[in-house]
Amino acid sequence: MLNKISDIEKEIALFLPKSSEALENFRIKYLGKKGIITSLFSDFRNVPAVDKKSVGQAINNLKIFASEKYKQLKLDLYSDEVESSGLDLSRPGTPFSPGARHPLSIVRNEIIGIFSRLGFIISEGPEIEDDGHVFSKLNFPPDHPARDMQDTFFIHRNSDDESSPEDILLRTHTSSVQVRIMEGEKPPIRTISPGRVFRNEAISARAHCIFHQVEGLYIDENVSFADLKQTLLFFATEMFGKKTRIRLRPSYFPFTEPSAEMDVSCTICSGKGCNVCKYTGWLEILGCGMVDPNVLDSCGINNKKYTGYAFGMGIERLAMLKYRINDLRLYFENDIKFLEQFRSAF
Ligand code: PHE
Repeated sequence: MLNKISDIEKEIALFLPKSSEALENFRIKYLGKKGIITSLFSDFRNVPAVDKKSVGQAINNLKIFASEKYKQLKLDLYSDEVESSGLDLSRPGTPFSPGARHPLSIVRNEIIGIFSRLGFIISEGPEIEDDGHVFSKLNFPPDHPARDMQDTFFIHRNSDDESSPEDILLRTHTSSVQVRIMEGEKPPIRTISPGRVFRNEAISARAHCIFHQVEGLYIDENVSFADLKQTLLFFATEMFGKKTRIRLRPSYFPFTEPSAEMDVSCTICSGKGCNVCKYTGWLEILGCGMVDPNVLDSCGINNKKYTGYAFGMGIERLAMLKYRINDLRLYFENDIKFLEQFRSAF
């Protein structure tokens, strides 16, 4: 048995593979499950007791010798292959270039984050809407200018024919989503609706026919204008910093009464006056008000029992203030030089 082992050892010592295939055959022949060394171990049972120690040691040594030889040959073969292929392992790798979030997504997520901390839930709805959800149920009179062709993209227009379907259009604000929520749910309702909206405007540095909004709605018993004001103050200080002040100016929206527009103290000059705030010290950022009782009624909510507030803002405008972007068209051009600048933001 010892002679046999030493013959095998000699055989292994002399082995020199020409290819990785030959090396693999070597491994199978000597070290494989059905290989020579395994069969030596099974023969070991028949070795007389006196020889067990020396034979056992010899087989173990043989196994170590074969495994070491295999490892070494594998390394040699690999470096031969690398050398002959001309591969240069010291070359630096191709840099991995991570993408950046779009500034509108960053700002939208920030707005959503602030309101979700106050318990607002996100709701979404269709971009292609009917007149009811965008206008009628929001208390827009039939001849309101916002319904005009100049503002709204109509897909199908009802030609005063009673039997033809309702006007189908692209939503001009995400208040339409809130109508859907009011129709489908019972108060308390606390929701924000982020989304894309469409208005038939000439494209310029300050206007675009597609833009994004986040609108909010809160309906419960005893909701007051003071609740609205406090919520908006919280939002402004979270978004623009602790020292931000807010101001509400009376305004008009068909769906809120009273209505207001909210300004924040200028984020650039802190209210001292600069060219961004046109030397007023204030920047207009959103519209808001108490939900008109007519709106609650047309959405099936008892307006004797419940009151609510609503607000809406344009994401493009907030992102312009936050990142000092002076041309709205930049958001939609996908210019990599513009987008790359937001790499470190989330
Ligand atoms: N829907 C209004 C707009 O698109 C914004 C708004 C929402 C105003 C809610 C008041 C209350 O301009």
